[in-house]
Amino acid sequence: MCQSCLSWYARCIAPYLVHAGCSANAFAHMRKRMIPRAGGIVVEVGFGSGLNLPYYDAAKVKRLVGVDPDGTMLGLAEPKTRSLPFSVECIRAGGERLPLIDSFADTVVVTYAFCTIPDPEAALTEIRRILRPLGQLIFIEHGRAERLRCRRWQERLNGLWGRLAGGCHLNRDPLRLIRAAGFRIVEEECEQFHLPFWQLGSHRAGIAAPPTG
Ligand SMILES: C[S@@+](CC[C@H](N)C(=O)[O-])C[C@H]1O[C@@H](n2cnc3c(N)ncnc32)[C@H](O)[C@@H]1O
Repeated sequence: MCQSCLSWYARCIAPYLVHAGCSANAFAHMRKRMIPRAGGIVVEVGFGSGLNLPYYDAAKVKRLVGVDPDGTMLGLAEPKTRSLPFSVECIRAGGERLPLIDSFADTVVVTYAFCTIPDPEAALTEIRRILRPLGQLIFIEHGRAERLRCRRWQERLNGLWGRLAGGCHLNRDPLRLIRAAGFRIVEEECEQFHLPFWQLGSHRAGIAAPPTG
């Protein structure tokens, strides 16, 4: 495919496909389990089309800031933000450079986005910076499969999948990335994806605490 077709696809098609894929039931049950745990001032990095919004506990969330560099995704999220009982602000920016002050957030939420963020290490450094010392990082990700056969397919499909699915990588290891950034994983869940999402490996969900001192 020529370069201009690729960039047209990335701008005009991929965000709608990613939104449709991430709206599937296969993703909803983890959202339902993890997102109500967010509280205080919440920053969601890789906010996308706002698919976590119905799962926030309004009694716990004071304010939500959704950050995503993709204007089309934020456009899909915007109508959902209007009728919520807490204030929601969308910021168009990459996770690698969050336009927020140090220790801004009580909770940072990242769902199915460390797979896509071009520099996840830099985003985790920024997440560390904006989290209060006693804050929490809630994550739901997918990544490198445990089963060898699936892992081989992930390696084979990775390039094509990335072009089709907005830059998503099949073979990243989100837990390793989170730990390498100095976070301590305090809770962890792993659950395999099934058809039609087997290529995503497993859900890797949990809570991580920023380093102390
Ligand atoms: C698979 S979607 C997940 C969206 C949403 N978190 C969800 O759970 O439905 C990945 C998201 O990461 C966003 N993204 C891409 N590059 C990013 C970056 N540098 N920083 C933050 N988010 C990014 C994409 O625009 C997209 O909205």
